[in-house]
Amino acid sequence: MAVIAVTKERRAGETRVAMTPDTVKKLIAAGFAVIVESGAGETSSYPDADYAAAGADLADLGAALAKADVLFKVRGPTEAEIAGLRAEAIVVGMLNPHQDKATLQALAAKGVSAFTMEFVPRITRAQVMDVLSSQANLAGYRAVLEAANAYGKVMPMMMTAAGTVAAAKVFVMGAGVAGLQAIATARRLGAVVTATDVRPASKEQVESLGAKFIAVEDEEFKAAETAAGYAKEMSAEYQAKQAALVSEHIRKQDLVITTALIPGRPAPRLISADQVASMRPGSVIVDLAVEQGGNVEGAVAGEVVETGGVKIVGYANLPGRIAADASALYARNLFAFAGLFLDKEGAFAPDYEDEILKAALVTRGGAVVHPALAS
Ligand code: NAI
Repeated sequence: MAVIAVTKERRAGETRVAMTPDTVKKLIAAGFAVIVESGAGETSSYPDADYAAAGADLADLGAALAKADVLFKVRGPTEAEIAGLRAEAIVVGMLNPHQDKATLQALAAKGVSAFTMEFVPRITRAQVMDVLSSQANLAGYRAVLEAANAYGKVMPMMMTAAGTVAAAKVFVMGAGVAGLQAIATARRLGAVVTATDVRPASKEQVESLGAKFIAVEDEEFKAAETAAGYAKEMSAEYQAKQAALVSEHIRKQDLVITTALIPGRPAPRLISADQVASMRPGSVIVDLAVEQGGNVEGAVAGEVVETGGVKIVGYANLPGRIAADASALYARNLFAFAGLFLDKEGAFAPDYEDEILKAALVTRGGAVVHPALAS
């Protein structure tokens, strides 16, 4: 019986875990044996006893790694973890392959087959494995709560005997999975919400959530979506026009949430220091793209920077700040992915020709094998 192991996350600030008691049960029902490193779920509120009750064997790190046919991770394994694996093992996680070349090289050198969940294609069959969506959705929700928390005023309009308080104005930049959830969350809290994106398809989605769409809608905008549904990098001319529109809008906003990303590229710069300076003291910006280089000039990963009375919140890993639910959804994504390792009879026999496995495979047989990562 193939063994799937999960170990504690060892990267700084990572609170999630790649398997929950719920998915332990599901994996066992699918025919796997499960080993959980003791304490793996501690930071996401899943105690060892719950894993054991679900049927997992608890082990120390060394034993978990040595017995693993498949290792489940949130982030890439550390060097020490990779050293403890067998060369035949499979590793599955969010390996951050464009940025973390060192981990990729170490996985290749060990000889293991590593799959990165960010590369799972966005086809219907793989929706249940879409970690970018499951985590971005939670990040978008949390970003609004962080903004509200850092803000010295309230979100909804309040009419009280002592007077009326105006609703907060929230501007969401980037209306993908995270941005749409941020819009919905801010609306639920009673804010007046506007949003922008470079993909024309997002306009209708923004409006359907009751927010106003703000963008330069020229010919370039109308063609700004790739076949895969992602944003293209926009021309300098478009960016200048968009910046002018944003400048006019942003100085009237109370809270701004930025979520703009372009796959495989640094995050686009959407807010300049001058634009930050134009905002009223007490305003708050949350930069969700801070780990990919940031959408906001002056944002610092892991910190809240205050400039001219405007707070720029740059918390890294927002899903990790709601670790229990983020882990639960991520673990379900991995459970679905593990199903691809089984053949029709339920035997462990990964088919490396499967479209999804092929797209997510980054190292195999001692080499980095993904075409997008060939250097
Ligand atoms: P993402 O995380 O790569 O980017 C976030 C957002 O930033 C995107 O909406 C993008 O258009 C926007 N953006 C990029 N540059 C910008 C700029 N200069 N100014 C303003 N906004 C900018 O994207 P995400 O959220 O992962 O998904 C994007 C779209 O992909 C979704 O809205 C959806 O249409 C599609 N999608 C499809 C799925 C499927 O078919 N299974 C699953 C999830 C998303």
